Amino acid sequence: MHAAFIEQLGSPDVIRYGELPAPRPGPSDVLVDVAATTVNPVDTFVRSGVFRTPLDFPFVISRDLVGTVAETGGDVRGFAPGQRVWCNSLGHGGRQGAAAERAVVPADRLYPLPDGVDPRTAVAVVHPAATAYLGLFTHGRLRAGETVVVAGGAGNVGGALVALAAWAGARVIATARPADFEHCRALGAAEVVDYRAEDQWERIRAAAPDGVDVYTDTSGRNDLERAVGTLAVRGRIVVLAGSASRPTLPAGELYMKDGSVIGFVISRARVAELAEAADVINTLLAGGLLRPRATEVLPLAAAGEVHRRMERGELNARRVVLQPAGAAPAR
Ligand SMILES: NC(=O)c1ccc[n+]([C@@H]2O[C@H](COP(=O)([O-])OP(=O)(O)OC[C@H]3O[C@@H](n4cnc5c(N)ncnc54)[C@H](OP(=O)(O)O)[C@@H]3O)[C@@H](O)[C@H]2O)c1
Repeated sequence: MHAAFIEQLGSPDVIRYGELPAPRPGPSDVLVDVAATTVNPVDTFVRSGVFRTPLDFPFVISRDLVGTVAETGGDVRGFAPGQRVWCNSLGHGGRQGAAAERAVVPADRLYPLPDGVDPRTAVAVVHPAATAYLGLFTHGRLRAGETVVVAGGAGNVGGALVALAAWAGARVIATARPADFEHCRALGAAEVVDYRAEDQWERIRAAAPDGVDVYTDTSGRNDLERAVGTLAVRGRIVVLAGSASRPTLPAGELYMKDGSVIGFVISRARVAELAEAADVINTLLAGGLLRPRATEVLPLAAAGEVHRRMERGELNARRVVLQPAGAAPAR
């Protein structure tokens, strides 16, 4: 089968596209015909070694897929050949990735794709949406009626944070550039602030007079000095981006508010946590409430080039969907 894979860690140049033996499912696995995969920032971290995780070479890259069940292992219940499915946790922790014509997925990491949902939309949003779910609810302990700030609310993870927080009944203040204000509002933001405005922090404080319950910044700037200043008593800052950032923490102000700073990375999510997120994501997908700002569809052979463009910062929150040559659309 054709696959995008690496034989060593390194720059995007180590990504090869070519033939690998087709994988076989174990007793608790499902073999999936891949209709589409995508490229996340974390795929570049795994490829380069910035995020260290067990992997075997040749290593098929990519985390997410949509596709159809080709075959199930003997112990698998609940999946049948031809069924449309998705997964967002391949390509790390010893599992081969999704950038291939066929992929083996442990059955407890595979979820049904709801009827009528466009597979390209699904593959574009499942990783950002699971990140948003776990960041907001599992780690940020967000409740209905609370106020959330999503810095970078028009990006992939940002848009999902806005949509999920609004869906859960929170009041969302997003930051974005003015051209994206409408996109953020359409996803459910009550207020949108220009992140380039000199008075953005005054505007955020004015929009949250009782303080911010959950603050998260998808740009990775992590200006904790100012973010702590916006927090309500018992406010939570969920740090989920900015692997090289070294912010200054106003410790006294934080502890005197009973505040907390919580780090979270989806790569450490438990199988049950991912499944809980998947249930909610399927509800929102079926309701048309999750959508990428812009999508570009390319062949799987372009994986190396997409990694290069992502690392140069050229994707501008555009989601790239990669399709194996001849993949049947998972309709
Ligand atoms: N912790 C986890 O488990 C996890 C999971 C997934 C992703 N991530 C991380 O999350 C980050 C975002 O990923 P993504 O795919 O959502 O990227 P993305 O789509 O490029 O989103 C980044 C957003 O940040 C915005 N931004 C840029 N400068 C800003 C500023 N000064 N203030 C506020 N916002 C600003 C961008 O706005 P413009 O569009 O206007 O440029 C863009 O919308 C990455 O660092 C990724 O590694 C973490």
